[in-house]
Amino acid sequence: MSDSTNPLPAEPGGDIAVGGSPAGNGYQPGFGNEFSTEAIPGALPVGRNSPQKVAYGLYAEQLSGTAFTAPRGENRRTWCYRIRPSVTHKPFRQIPNRLLRSTPFDELPVTPNQLRWSPPPVPTEPTDFIDGIITMAGNGDASMHSGVAIHLYAANRSMEDRFFYDADGELLIVPQLGTLLLRTELGVLDVAPGEIAVVPRGIKFRVELPDGTARGYICENYGATFRLPDLGPIGANGLANPRDFLTPAAAYEDRQGAFEMVAKFCGNLWASDIDHSPLDVVAWHGNYAPYKYDLSAFQTINTVSFDHPDPSIFTVLTSPSEIRGTANCDFVIFPPRWMVAENTFRPPWFHRNFMNEFMGLVTGEYDAKAEGFLPGGSSLHNCMSGHGPDAATFERASNADLKPQYIANTLAFMFETRFICRPTRFAMESELRQADYYECWQDLKSNFDPNGT
Ligand SMILES: [Fe+2]
Repeated sequence: MSDSTNPLPAEPGGDIAVGGSPAGNGYQPGFGNEFSTEAIPGALPVGRNSPQKVAYGLYAEQLSGTAFTAPRGENRRTWCYRIRPSVTHKPFRQIPNRLLRSTPFDELPVTPNQLRWSPPPVPTEPTDFIDGIITMAGNGDASMHSGVAIHLYAANRSMEDRFFYDADGELLIVPQLGTLLLRTELGVLDVAPGEIAVVPRGIKFRVELPDGTARGYICENYGATFRLPDLGPIGANGLANPRDFLTPAAAYEDRQGAFEMVAKFCGNLWASDIDHSPLDVVAWHGNYAPYKYDLSAFQTINTVSFDHPDPSIFTVLTSPSEIRGTANCDFVIFPPRWMVAENTFRPPWFHRNFMNEFMGLVTGEYDAKAEGFLPGGSSLHNCMSGHGPDAATFERASNADLKPQYIANTLAFMFETRFICRPTRFAMESELRQADYYECWQDLKSNFDPNGT
């Protein structure tokens, strides 16, 4: 097996490289930009996409993330200049899905009960990022490009000679423990807890674990690509600002050997033998590329008068559906922030929702739950299932001194979907499920007094 990696260029041609990465060539700032990047100067054709001969003997290959005819503002495609075209692999064979599940998510009837889970343990057997995926719930139809799957991952082994791509959806990855080094076709991203990464549909990658172990959450978005939400009256700035998103500069591997490429296609895993690393893109240009975002860069907007705003005010990314204003999936965070509302019950209110709410916790405590919702854990409140603060939180917040309060050291998030999230058999039957979750609300007694104030 030969193994050579490209030297770091002094300046990726034509790029603004920022940040620097211990493992890549740096990043390009901006969301959905028309990026141009080359790991070897002169590798990127000038003036055309597919010249008769590409410099350095590279192949030109277009990667289309949307239909050719998608409107310009939504059109996503990238031109890759690579050592071998993507077609050079042996036939795929189906391999076990392990705990990965996909649509139609019909293993069990869907309960209206509120659900909560403890975090999964980090595995003791050698387990890489792909083998460590545990599907908790999902909806829609992967083959119809609608809905999502929600997975956890828990891994303790880097992918060295194994590569993966997902034809069913883009992957929004939320690390909770351990940094992920995502070596993708289009460059390298290192993503720590507190950051997120999005790997678009079809982009090949492998995952190294610099910390040895890793755990987190994945939203596999079958629907329209995640994008920044419209800001309406907020104006031209605020929430997640485009300049804080980082897309890697080109970086490639020129490796030969006996490798495996795993594809998720139409709900199942398939493996193919491949005699070289598919991460062999020397230069690329386009607007279909992986990116990362540091959630601490989110400009949190909240009330400065009264009432808790709807949680949509905390939307980082949205995948729209064909129904205006009804997202296929919103990614919403609850970061550190000031609470200053006057004469207000400050935690999230009691609620029943048309939309379906899957929550996770990266660190700290969530302000609606005093206990039981643990970092690495999850909860699911489906359509019209009542939820809200537990009894202890209600009691405390109802009697709190309403001085300005900073909620520190917390990072909860929500995948909010338009379709009912259908839990997997694993989610319903594993020991991670907290069967006593309902008890946190049972001490909410009637305080009603018709003669009171
Ligand atoms: Fe809710």
